[in-house]
Amino acid sequence: SSGMAKTPLALAFESIAGSRSDAVVVPPGYTAQVLVPWGTPLDDSAPEWSEDLTMTPQAQAASVGMHHDGMHPFALDESTASERFLLVMNNEYIDENALWAPQGGPTNMTEGKRPADEVRTEINAHGVTVVEVKKGADGRWSHVKGSAHNRRYTSATPMHLSGPVAGSDYVKTRYSPGGTQARGTNNNCAHGYTPWGTYLTCEENWPAYFVKNEGRTLDDDRLGIASGRGRYGWETAAGDDSERDDEFTRLIGDPVADDASGDYRNEPRQFGYIVEIDPYTGRQAIKRTALGRFRHEGCWPGKLVAGEPVVFYSGHDSRNEYIYKFVSEAAWDPADAIAPGAEADRLAIGDKYMDSGTLYVARFNADGSGEWLPLTPDASTQDGRTLAEALELDADDLAGVIIHTCDAADLMGATPMDRPEWGAVDPSTGEVYMTLTNNSKRTEDGTEATLTGDGDNITALGNGYATAPVNAANPRANNEAGQIIRWREGSDATAFDWEVFVFGAAASDQNNLSGLTADNEFASPDGLYFDERGDGQGILWIQTDNGYEGVTESTNDQVLAVVPAELERADGAAAVISGANQDKLKRFCVGPNGCEVTGIFPTPDKTALFINIQHPGNWPASDDATQASDASVRPRAATVVIQREDGGQIGV
Ligand code: FEO
Ligand code: CA
Ligand code: CA
Ligand code: CA
Repeated sequence: SSGMAKTPLALAFESIAGSRSDAVVVPPGYTAQVLVPWGTPLDDSAPEWSEDLTMTPQAQAASVGMHHDGMHPFALDESTASERFLLVMNNEYIDENALWAPQGGPTNMTEGKRPADEVRTEINAHGVTVVEVKKGADGRWSHVKGSAHNRRYTSATPMHLSGPVAGSDYVKTRYSPGGTQARGTNNNCAHGYTPWGTYLTCEENWPAYFVKNEGRTLDDDRLGIASGRGRYGWETAAGDDSERDDEFTRLIGDPVADDASGDYRNEPRQFGYIVEIDPYTGRQAIKRTALGRFRHEGCWPGKLVAGEPVVFYSGHDSRNEYIYKFVSEAAWDPADAIAPGAEADRLAIGDKYMDSGTLYVARFNADGSGEWLPLTPDASTQDGRTLAEALELDADDLAGVIIHTCDAADLMGATPMDRPEWGAVDPSTGEVYMTLTNNSKRTEDGTEATLTGDGDNITALGNGYATAPVNAANPRANNEAGQIIRWREGSDATAFDWEVFVFGAAASDQNNLSGLTADNEFASPDGLYFDERGDGQGILWIQTDNGYEGVTESTNDQVLAVVPAELERADGAAAVISGANQDKLKRFCVGPNGCEVTGIFPTPDKTALFINIQHPGNWPASDDATQASDASVRPRAATVVIQREDGGQIGV
């Protein structure tokens, strides 16, 4: 078009070799700096980190949390957005041996009572960290200790409930008899962000923290609420039944009163949501129940169109669980795209777009078409009953459908997926990518279970226990290496088209369907980011969280890059990436031993790429992420800032 030819985007680095070391590896000409590792003090009330520091509840509440995962930058001013911002980061869970290293490990982890202050410390190591970071004149990044913006949200921080479930009988507790308040957020894995400048944190593997031995409900079983002992035994710190001390007893959901508002049976129903945080004000966070209740990996906004609804995508990371989308009732008003740092009631805008709308679940048909199936009380299930009838709910009980989101999805005939993890949206095409990380419960014929949506067997499904047969979108039995799927919305809210973008594999695998080689073999894709670079082009960054031996024997977890606009799908290929074009997928970075690589975004000027290293084995040895230690290191999850020595843009 009239001399404005678009410049083809191409990756300007060679694929790096696989690596198995206690160091981060990046291409020649790149640096990698450790930033805000676990235990970094946010203000002067917390002690400086040392290898022999014994963490306390107070110190951990004022320090960066553990096990960094999804994260997003929030600029304080548009003009300095690439040099200074609020880094908002999930702290998914803990490595109790690293946390309690000075004392030789946790006390009574598997039996007996946990000490209350150990539990309080662990509760404070979970959640979300907000920390101001800035780039110095020397190009190095640091955090702003004592910034008024620095803040923690933990597994005990009070939060609002909003949307259809708020105020319903399902969430009335002794703590909140009106069912409008919850305490804490847990296992915040991937994340999301909104066009109005808020952070979304997503509750993933929270069910194992609650214990219920009596009075279990359909949703307790479906989601995997623990019995016996919780994941870290936090509930054992509770006093005797007579005391019913609310701080830890809330984790024990056995009914003890006549009425739900007299006990803790509904506490688990305050979890499983997308939680909206305004990082600029620190106002009480809001659990947005309209977006469904399950093990949310993350939450990503779709392409924005003025006058059209706002869409959010979310996956349920469990074997044979589903992909969802939420479509707002309100139409998008571009005036709600609040500028970075500007004063506004951002959570009120969240009320407008995230509390009313329709939740859908995806069915992937074999012919490449797809359907979004509505999860409303009057939706017609596969056997012709309404969802309300099939779930034995009142005819207009939307809160009940949301509490039972996964069972409702079964009944509608959704497609069980290979563990949906992160999504990413190409902002120019609106195409959505989502990682399907792996699935050990996928078989050729699905003999152990039939996912027919029959209301009689729904308790047998879900929670990663049910086996499902292969299907077109999840075609490999015992899928150890995973795949990335891509879809584009159709002409109305309920139709889409899909294809597999790439299949993970070891280069030597027989079912290496994308023809990967030693230069780009990967398994268990997890983190994902679409990095727009103009002219309708961008880099898709892929991160891994792999336990598949075929790949772990040659490399640790990694970051790969590909420019999707460069790729043409070969005739008859199983995926967009195949042997004909696989060399366009390049390995950019490899993490240290024991870690997964997660959490990713570039600065707006593209000169720095931020990633997170979670659960490393013996790292970091120093501020230089690329240095390994000869000695043993108390491991700390950390953010890593990757930059070029010449200050240029990452990747190109
Ligand atoms: Fe916490 Fe699904 O990864
Ligand atoms: Ca993780
Ligand atoms: Ca993940
Ligand atoms: Ca994972």
